[in-house]
Amino acid sequence: MSTTPRRRRHRWSLQARLITAVVSFVSVILITVGLGTGTVLESILRENLDAKVTRVQDTIALDYNHRADQILGASRQERGTLLVVNNLAGPTAAYVDGDGDVRTLDTRKIQVSAPDGNSWADATIAGLGDYRLRIGPYSSIIGLPTSEVTSVSARIVTTVALLTTGGLLVLAAVIALLIRSALAPLRSVASTASRVAAQPLAEGAVTISERVPEEDTDTHTEVGQVGHALNTLLDHVETSLAARQRNEERMRAFVADASHELRTPLASIRGYSELSLRGIRQAEAGGGATAGAVAETTRESLERIQAQSLRMTALVEDLLLLARLDEGTELVYSAVDLTRLAVEAVSDARVAGTDHDWVLEVPDEPVIVAGDAGRLHQVAANLLTNARVHTPAGTRVTATVTTEGGDAVLRVHDDGPGIDPSVVHELFERFSRADSSRARQTGGTGLGLSIVKAIVEGHGGRISVASERGSTTFEVRMPARPDSPAQ
Ligand SMILES: Nc1ncnc2c1ncn2[C@@H]1O[C@H](COP(=O)(O)OP(=O)(O)OP(=O)(O)O)[C@@H](O)[C@H]1O
Ligand SMILES: [Mg+2]
Repeated sequence: MSTTPRRRRHRWSLQARLITAVVSFVSVILITVGLGTGTVLESILRENLDAKVTRVQDTIALDYNHRADQILGASRQERGTLLVVNNLAGPTAAYVDGDGDVRTLDTRKIQVSAPDGNSWADATIAGLGDYRLRIGPYSSIIGLPTSEVTSVSARIVTTVALLTTGGLLVLAAVIALLIRSALAPLRSVASTASRVAAQPLAEGAVTISERVPEEDTDTHTEVGQVGHALNTLLDHVETSLAARQRNEERMRAFVADASHELRTPLASIRGYSELSLRGIRQAEAGGGATAGAVAETTRESLERIQAQSLRMTALVEDLLLLARLDEGTELVYSAVDLTRLAVEAVSDARVAGTDHDWVLEVPDEPVIVAGDAGRLHQVAANLLTNARVHTPAGTRVTATVTTEGGDAVLRVHDDGPGIDPSVVHELFERFSRADSSRARQTGGTGLGLSIVKAIVEGHGGRISVASERGSTTFEVRMPARPDSPAQ
């Protein structure tokens, strides 16, 4: 329970907190000053009233024979003045009313209890209100109404309260304006930062065009320093992003060049091994006695050389293709019918994998995407080859082409043993093989799926995999182009 208000407090903006703090602080000061002034003023007014009562007492000539109203009538007193006398005429009381006339009063209405040794008393007199009374000679009582003191005090309190409230409102407004203008640069810093955060920096964007505006980076102000620091930081980030980009480009170019350069010597090795093998086969056919003995080991070695150079050629081609796809220069676009492409890829796979059960599910009408026909064929072929080489004989492989919500979807599903869940997430990484022993057995390089991914993403599509024991599905999703003309 107690944590809720604290949490809410933290959600207050700096502006709200500053205004609340300043306004409460100033109101405490103003209220204290107001109360202090009111108290002092009231005590001064009371002293004045007492002095006035004393003056009135001095001006009234008391005697033994007259009633209070007679005595009061004889000395002209101001309105409200009250007199009580107790003499030969008995206890009598009188006061001067609002019109200046003297009126008698029932003495029973006046109940005065002055503390001992104190001739002053305060009392409320029925019909007349609050009075300041002084007990004088002959048990006489002189009094003046305190209503003036109370009304002056009330006026002061009201005035102070009104002025305080008004002043505080003005103060709050002024502070709000000041803070708003002082914090404006901070808001601009925050919005710059969030715009930068929205940029896809992780996905290769290297230029950060956003900066805190010049006028909000004045280093003489604290907020300006923040803006300036953010701009400096963004400069650094941009520089390092550009450096990273240059490094990557250099690396890509290096891989592309190296693969390209390796092609020629590899072709020679392949050619020479081929040539030598042919020579040996001819010699064997000729039936020379020494030829057979030499041929035994040499032929085996040459066959190994040829197989390995073929494998290396495939690897180099894959590397070159990946490097070019990374550069984004490889794809040649045209309208491609995925349906037809799947039909062809599955019939190729059927020929290559007679031990597997191949199923094709395609719609009657063509599914057109804008893409590179050769590369898209490679996608289908790679996925189907994987389904063939990484699953045991008898596995049923289903290739499906559909359109789903504006996307052209190619799915390759097999009911093989599935992929180890711990490696599924890095399946599309370069040189990743889920099971190294099986991969070595099948002779793959581990680049197949990374090439598939690079091609699909080069087309603006996505590839995903869902695998469990008995069901592995690779799904390629690409924006369909139904308007493009069919090939
Ligand atoms: N349908 C599948 N069933 C089981 N495992 C698979 C399947 N497809 C891929 N894999 C696993 O994913 C790994 C990576 O596949 P990828 O195509 O990238 O490489 P590769 O097939 O080993 O080699 P390459 O395709 O380069 O010749 C494979 O080694 C295999 O372990
Ligand atoms: Mg493969």
